[in-house]
Amino acid sequence: MSTTEQTRPATGALRHVRMLIDGKRVDAVSGQVLTVENPGRRTPIATIPRGAAEDVDRAVQAAHRAFPGWSRTVPRQRGRLLLRIAEALEARIEELARTVAEETGNAIRTQARPEATLVADIFRYFGGLAGELKGETIPLGEHVLSYTRREPLGVVGAIIPWNAPVLLGALKMTAALCAGNTLVLKAAEDAPLGVLLVAEVCQEFLPPGVLNVLTGLGEEAGGPLAEHPIVRKLSFTGSTEVGKIIMRAAAERIVPVSLELGGKSPAIVYQDADEDWVVDGVIAGMRFTRQSQSCTAGSRLFLHQDIFDSFLDKLTKKTTALKLGDPLDEATDIGSIINEKQFRKVCGYVDEGLHRKDARLVFGGLPPADGPLSKGYFAIPTVFADTSNDWRLAREEIFGPVLVAIPWKDEEDAIRMANDSHYGLAAYVWTHEIGSALRTAHAIESGWVQVNQGLGQSLGHSYGGYKQSGIGREFSLEGMLDSFTQRKNVTVNLNTPRRG
Ligand code: NAI
Ligand code: MG
Repeated sequence: MSTTEQTRPATGALRHVRMLIDGKRVDAVSGQVLTVENPGRRTPIATIPRGAAEDVDRAVQAAHRAFPGWSRTVPRQRGRLLLRIAEALEARIEELARTVAEETGNAIRTQARPEATLVADIFRYFGGLAGELKGETIPLGEHVLSYTRREPLGVVGAIIPWNAPVLLGALKMTAALCAGNTLVLKAAEDAPLGVLLVAEVCQEFLPPGVLNVLTGLGEEAGGPLAEHPIVRKLSFTGSTEVGKIIMRAAAERIVPVSLELGGKSPAIVYQDADEDWVVDGVIAGMRFTRQSQSCTAGSRLFLHQDIFDSFLDKLTKKTTALKLGDPLDEATDIGSIINEKQFRKVCGYVDEGLHRKDARLVFGGLPPADGPLSKGYFAIPTVFADTSNDWRLAREEIFGPVLVAIPWKDEEDAIRMANDSHYGLAAYVWTHEIGSALRTAHAIESGWVQVNQGLGQSLGHSYGGYKQSGIGREFSLEGMLDSFTQRKNVTVNLNTPRRG
């Protein structure tokens, strides 16, 4: 394998980046390719193999062959390899950041570089956890020794989206491999280049077949992976709609499944929190600097009625000061939407808000039809006020920078509206009153509630959703143990008759 393959520009043509199967960089059996675009400029940047069922099968067979050796490798030795990968990734953070910014449209300073930095840290964190794959002993009495082992499941099939591609890819790679599984990971068709770069670095250290990374479309490559008879575990991050398809495939063969799906998360601001730092936190929680293409986005803003207008004034000033533009420009705060389909979807929601007589546009609106921003898929941060919690704008995951602001008077009412959603991934509560904050945090139906902060996930905290936001947890030791190992119980009778 050549480490320069990723960066070598093919003379006169787009560079071509191959998949990783069985330790080798390969094309699709069919020879077909897909084009990856820079959505900030709408220009092609690379071609990738258009993987399909026969490629999935090759990758799964390779992972299957690698499993006995990898699963029997002493866990801390597996961990040591992950730590060496972390170090090698640290040396390539800048290259990874640029790759991700270019293919996703995420701004390099606010998003792509922090994500690339976190990827190396994910390998470091899980590398250190390999010694923690501990079982338990069960006190059944002196006549018996009963203990559990945490065993890997086998070949894991993982499918990831494009919104934080290398972070999500790294989470599947590290947790699956640390626990002794082998992995076939399908990257998202819109953002495979960063994931392939991480795979290239991994392959310098891992035995062939332990990690395989496929590229291709959802139905053509993701479908056959979900349905492959040898795959023993499915881990998916993406839309709730596709999550249901993955769960059906898992049901056919009774394989365990983890799903990290969408969200429509509430941010509840109390009357005592009409302050600048809260506005900053709401902007961070809404993930405006990732074009709000985040499952964790706090996209329903419940403002106490007494501070409604005053808070929105502050929010307008701060959000409209953010700079939209070229993702690779260090001065840019907000980049572009991932592709034309998502761009049209976001514009559709904005258009609907503009046409409703009972919705008030606070700021934003449809993207400009000309000028530099019209060259890419740039959506403008937009806020609608006086919305009702039962509108489509307030119920559906927009996955774009469109925030709805809804007033409330009683805490109970705010909690009722916050929970009136089929999603339950994240939530944000803003108040100086610790009692109100914790009462509300406990009453909210979601997997992660932040009080007085709007940050991203931290390593070590189990992350995942309630309701249709998903099943299972990732990001932590417990998440790895629950999602990527199976418990075996061994019970030994100590009262066997003595011989001789
Ligand atoms: P998606 O769920 O269709 O794609 C995610 C991954 O699943 C990609 O790798 C894709 O190739 C694969 N996939 C798609 N169809 C598949 C199938 N039938 N079988 C197996 N794999 C399949 O997400 P998409 O279309 O990119 O975005 C649509 C919406 O999904 C967004 O507007 C957003 O609401 C939501 N979404 C949520 C994400 C999250 O982090 N929870 C991430 C991305 C999208
Ligand atoms: Mg889709």
